[in-house]
Amino acid sequence: MNTYNENDAKLNPLDALREEHTEIRTALSKFGNVLKKIPAGVSDSELNEISEYLDKDIELHFKREEDALFPVLGNYIGIETGPINVMIIEHNSCRELTVDLKKKIEDKDHKSVVSAGKALIELLSEHEDKEDGILFHIAEMQLSHDEKQDIMKKMIAIN
Ligand SMILES: [Fe+2]
Ligand SMILES: [Fe+2]
Repeated sequence: MNTYNENDAKLNPLDALREEHTEIRTALSKFGNVLKKIPAGVSDSELNEISEYLDKDIELHFKREEDALFPVLGNYIGIETGPINVMIIEHNSCRELTVDLKKKIEDKDHKSVVSAGKALIELLSEHEDKEDGILFHIAEMQLSHDEKQDIMKKMIAIN
């Protein structure tokens, strides 16, 4: 996942997150191709790489949204209900599916790895589409320039 430094302080955080979504889509399509090779042509290292991406990179992306963007946007549209609430629920569902997938990888339960993996790819790609298509549009309309800069500063600190 992208890392940011002080030189990125002027970036629009929504553009930065959209770029992270592009990276995630590329990773998910690679992940889908690995699943297609199961069980014959898949190596442990390919599956471990996927687990690691979900644990580290996806988790970092979720944290940036949850700890930098959502609290500020929540001042306008609320956090406990509405679209931010739905996004948080979906993050947690992805986290649960990741735990589930890792267990199936460990058990070498290949058939279940495929079904859990597919469920995760579907949920995650629909989730990022919703953010790009709905939530980030709301954010572009509501957030001031200063608020966007504050969000970007927080994102730089979350690594
Ligand atoms: Fe998200
Ligand atoms: Fe996202």
